[in-house]
Amino acid sequence: MSTSWMIASGKGGVGKSTIAASLGVAMAREGRSVCVIDADIGLRDQDVLLGLENRIVFDLLDVANGSCTLEQALISPEGMSRLSLLPASQFARAKELEPKAFRRMLTRLKERFDVILIDCPAGIERGVRGLMNCEVDESVIICTPDDVCIRNAERMASVMDKKGLPRPRLIVNRLQEELIAAGEMYAAATVAATLDMPLLGEIPEDNAICRATLRHISPMDIDCQARRALTRIAWRMLDTGLDAPLPGYGTARKPWYRRLFRKTPKLKEVQRIDC
Ligand SMILES: Nc1ncnc2c1ncn2[C@@H]1O[C@H](COP(=O)(O)OP(=O)(O)O)[C@@H](O)[C@H]1O
Ligand SMILES: [Mg+2]
Repeated sequence: MSTSWMIASGKGGVGKSTIAASLGVAMAREGRSVCVIDADIGLRDQDVLLGLENRIVFDLLDVANGSCTLEQALISPEGMSRLSLLPASQFARAKELEPKAFRRMLTRLKERFDVILIDCPAGIERGVRGLMNCEVDESVIICTPDDVCIRNAERMASVMDKKGLPRPRLIVNRLQEELIAAGEMYAAATVAATLDMPLLGEIPEDNAICRATLRHISPMDIDCQARRALTRIAWRMLDTGLDAPLPGYGTARKPWYRRLFRKTPKLKEVQRIDC
């Protein structure tokens, strides 16, 4: 049975594309056939994240318009035949994608793949709402632990609800253990409780992600904390029974000597300059 997941957020730049690409790699390595749809029309990035930027001939809109077949548009990273990307168009506008054409495409992809990950554009505009249809089985909202992102995630959840999508799960990204322990950042459980959403996973802030992106390789190819967090999330999404407990970054009590010598930079307010 195939499952399609919508990966969305209210605010941009929270890690949707990075997470969608990494989960695609993780799930393919678990032996599933996976299709990542780059639905961020006009701002495509999945091709870069998956090392496929020189391989695109046709894209999502070409398939929707009938200019090519689905098979012609799908591309796979080298040595990873189980993972396919349906790339976004680089210069088109989101409104050019007909919601009905997208739904038909999703139906056909579900006949071919075990998992479909839809990397959505940010926000709640028409382009995003057009992606929400009855072929979407599950949805995830990515949120960073701050009030702006939480408020936007709430708006996105209410749009999803109006569109009849199942209750979204939550991934909290860019958590910093030290700040959470010092009470200067929300813990993932706090964000989940505020949004009243089931927590699917938590991912720490990890420089390895920046290094991987710069080298055009997947964070799943680097031994790092983010990779372990993403692997656990992939297991939960696949329901493989290999589930690991949530790490709870920053919530475990550190030994007294670590607490004593903890270095949390003090916030120093500076003099205001009146313009
Ligand atoms: N856990 C993380 N640690 C460090 N950097 C991250 C993390 N998650 C995402 N990033 C970085 O944040 C930026 C935005 O990520 P991206 O996936 O493009 O977000 P979105 O698709 O939501 O706009 C990228 O530079 C990415 O490398
Ligand atoms: Mg993106």
